[in-house]
Amino acid sequence: MEKQALLYEGKAKKLYKTDEEGVLWVEYLNQATALNGVKKDQIQGKGELNNQITSEIFEKLKERGISSHFIKKLSKTEQLVEAVTIIPLEVVVRNIAAGSFSKRLDVPEGQPLKFPIIEFYYKEDRLDDPLINEDHILALEIATTEQIQEIKTITRQINQALIDLFKELSIKLVDFKVEFGLNQAGRILLADEISPDTCRLWDAETNDHLDKDIYRRDLGDIVPVYQEVLRRLEEI
Ligand code: TMP
Repeated sequence: MEKQALLYEGKAKKLYKTDEEGVLWVEYLNQATALNGVKKDQIQGKGELNNQITSEIFEKLKERGISSHFIKKLSKTEQLVEAVTIIPLEVVVRNIAAGSFSKRLDVPEGQPLKFPIIEFYYKEDRLDDPLINEDHILALEIATTEQIQEIKTITRQINQALIDLFKELSIKLVDFKVEFGLNQAGRILLADEISPDTCRLWDAETNDHLDKDIYRRDLGDIVPVYQEVLRRLEEI
């Protein structure tokens, strides 16, 4: 497999074409961002940690019957994925109140929610990724009714699989964000990444943050924390 032209450079990843139709080469970068890019830093080792954590999680989801765009890990910082057209939605699931939910609705961080809440954000940097509802998604033709239902069904399955997986690691899954894409056959596939950048993970014993809130809230160095998540994942 040969890496070819750069297709896209995002905040945390570079995407390249390959010599195989429908297969893309992803390189994870060391850049960390928060506040929609306002806070930005290079953090040595972050790219390889997120690549390895995401690869482990996508493999474990596959064992639990949830497919994704992930094909295989190539190196510490690179992986191969199936080419998909990303649906411009950030799909957030919340099991425990935290972050923007706590702020917007004045619910204390750490309060368990009665059931997992699914939220949709429109992936549009220009608009700061606004919270939208299903009518907005239909009116803006971001996805069809059937696609929204399928996304919600898969998202609930991902949530249960991740809750079970992280429980084995003594980690509480507070909330997370996933993205979906359409492959060449028009099938909806889980895409992008699942890592401590895109999840809130709290240690089950201490409630310590094991995620990007360490960076967002200036609580210290994320590298040892992400290493700890990877160590627990590799242990099971
Ligand atoms: P929030 O509380 O800031 O809305 O974040 C909810 C979850 O979604 C949290 O686990 C972090 C994740 N997330 C992303 O991965 N990317 C984003 O751009 C945002 C806003 C949240």
